[in-house]
Amino acid sequence: RMPPLEQCYNLTDFESVAKMVMKKTAWGYYSSGADDEITMRENKLAFHKIWFRPRILVDVENVDLSTTMLGSKCSIPFYVTATALGKLGNPEGEVVLTRAAHTHDVIQMIPTLASCSFDEIVDAKKGGQVQWLQVYVNKNREITKGIVQNAERRGCKGLFITVDAPQLGRREKDMRSKFDDVGSNVQRVDGDTVDRSQGVARAISSFIDPSLSWKDIPWFRKITKMPIALKGVQRVEDALKAVEYGVDAIVLSNHGGRQLDTAPPGIEILAEVMPALRDRGWQDKIEVYIDGGIRRATDILKALCLGAKGVGIGRPFLYAMSTYGQSGVERAMQLLKDELEMDMRLIGASKISDLDTTMVDYRGLSSH
Ligand code: FNR
Repeated sequence: RMPPLEQCYNLTDFESVAKMVMKKTAWGYYSSGADDEITMRENKLAFHKIWFRPRILVDVENVDLSTTMLGSKCSIPFYVTATALGKLGNPEGEVVLTRAAHTHDVIQMIPTLASCSFDEIVDAKKGGQVQWLQVYVNKNREITKGIVQNAERRGCKGLFITVDAPQLGRREKDMRSKFDDVGSNVQRVDGDTVDRSQGVARAISSFIDPSLSWKDIPWFRKITKMPIALKGVQRVEDALKAVEYGVDAIVLSNHGGRQLDTAPPGIEILAEVMPALRDRGWQDKIEVYIDGGIRRATDILKALCLGAKGVGIGRPFLYAMSTYGQSGVERAMQLLKDELEMDMRLIGASKISDLDTTMVDYRGLSSH
């Protein structure tokens, strides 16, 4: 039996309820990580290695959580990251996230592999609500070009090219549960027959081009005016290269631990990338985001103190959507807002731009 929504006091509570009530296939697909799930676990644990260094006697009567990401205003520095197959968890799919994001003035990244059509997700948007597009690059570039240019026409404010998935990782929980009950939710982009033995993830991803490389990046600049971000940067050298290639943003991410197991957590990479950018005076040339394992506002704060412009959150919203629908996602977002406002007061910051590296002790990180 499901506890009433008011008894979910934090993001992890939604996960516990989801595990109890979700269909095995959907739970398997959402919750799985690659191989031994070491990276997936460490994404959360890495935040425990950072301590705050709170400032006292700062006037924190009024706290302002608002910020901008890729030039768009938002109420709080997190966004709903792209996660495929929303209808596995909720019959209405990704539009549930769109509506909740509107309620809280939060940015949503639309996945290439959404269960709803792209148009349905854009049509569900209200007023000046901001959406970004995530792309898996197709072997047939004309298809990708069509998707990108259509997204720009429909008002998307950012293009996130996923660069950590030339092949999808091996997620055994997902493979074991197969996907007997997915049925028509899985639409293949290229019309090939679907090999179901490898789990949901592999079955839908064979159109992705593993030959994608740096030389393709200028092409994206030619086909769109949207700001361009690389999602899935995992080392300093590539972060610096991204600046050289003139992209607007990077997401330090290991895809929620679903790709290469024992790849490092985003927060670890961030602690290496920001000093390297500052050394070169490049810190204002590119916006840096992280995702993976963010479950508390303290996690968000740590990322911001270390120099991130914002963070992406994936599974918690999927779990909230799969259990309590739109009101669940709204509550999850509200909990984060309440936590962040309180944490800002307690650390001694009244606005996002007050946060800096002196407010964290990150000597415990392996990358320090
Ligand atoms: C993802 N992620 C993802 N990323 C992407 O670029 N395209 C995609 O289609 C998907 N699909 C997807 C499905 C599911 C079920 C999950 C859990 C994740 C990765 C996602 O954008 C993000 O990197 C992680 O989810 C962040 O980690 P947390 O917040 O889930 O711990």
